[in-house]
Amino acid sequence: MSEQVRYRRIKRVSCYYTASIQLSVMEFEQKVVIITGASSGIGEACAQTFAKAGALLSIVGRNVENLDQVAKKCAEYGNKPLVIKADISVAEDVEKIVKNTVAHYGKIDVLVNNAGMLRIAGLMDDISNFDQMVGTNIRGTYLLSQKAIPHLIESKGNIVTVSSVVSTITEPVIMQYSMTKAALDAFTRCAASELGPKGVRVNAVNPGPVFTNLFVRSGLTDEDYKTKFEEVRTSMRLKKIAEPEDVANLVAFLASDRAKCITGSFHYIDGGLHLGNPVLRP
Ligand SMILES: NC(=O)c1ccc[n+]([C@@H]2O[C@H](COP(=O)([O-])OP(=O)(O)OC[C@H]3O[C@@H](n4cnc5c(N)ncnc54)[C@H](OP(=O)(O)O)[C@@H]3O)[C@@H](O)[C@H]2O)c1
Repeated sequence: MSEQVRYRRIKRVSCYYTASIQLSVMEFEQKVVIITGASSGIGEACAQTFAKAGALLSIVGRNVENLDQVAKKCAEYGNKPLVIKADISVAEDVEKIVKNTVAHYGKIDVLVNNAGMLRIAGLMDDISNFDQMVGTNIRGTYLLSQKAIPHLIESKGNIVTVSSVVSTITEPVIMQYSMTKAALDAFTRCAASELGPKGVRVNAVNPGPVFTNLFVRSGLTDEDYKTKFEEVRTSMRLKKIAEPEDVANLVAFLASDRAKCITGSFHYIDGGLHLGNPVLRP
């Protein structure tokens, strides 16, 4: 039995017998949620998590084939997502994301800024890597948020941005990427401060390594990336690499009313990587 079919059965049973389960299952019913980078990895997991909770989704990315696959899986939970082909580093595409979503659903309740890219590039590496990452990770996120904010003020909605643990820990080989993620942390703090009085919350999640396509797309081979992840895993306090669903659950929590008093905050989901390792022996 597929997960979606099992879910529909549980949901049906819960409607009759367990009102409290139904409430938590349908936490995002009638809520309009935009998820960027929903064609893969963490964004795809977010799409399924929000779909399961009854959300009306706009799923965004450049790879329409992948988006259509994700939309199909989400639709099995009840609502067919709106697929929007857009490159968030292109201003006209960003406009389209907001325009199409509002035209289709009439409002926006949640923006999940998840789309992002990684290039393995440090201090002495080509600046063009940095320019690309700035265009997507910072500028794209900033522009899309800017366009969505008037609608979020109207709905008293919120933004959750996917940053990274490397915004705060030191990894020179990915210095340029780390800088873009540090900018997202600054964005989160400033936007939360400005929008709080208008009823809009802004938060970030800061994952450590997560099994997705990010590192392979950055140019590492499958083998290299798995070896590196294993090295990182052994240095973690919990020695656990997160799955995309772990991050998606945290994103959904922050976007929900259960987090109604949380704004301007970062949430590590990194097996304790940000803690480093103690240097004093007991
Ligand atoms: N995986 C990790 O270890 C890890 C750790 C910390 C933080 N993160 C962050 O998590 C987020 C999601 O990454 P992931 O790990 O799930 O990697 P992924 O599997 O490579 O997914 C990245 C997503 O971003 C989209 N994207 C990239 N550039 C885009 C652009 N210019 N316009 C629109 N969409 C774009 C991709 O869609 P298309 O190809 O369809 O455009 C894809 O759906 C990123 O912000 C990443 O920095 C990941």
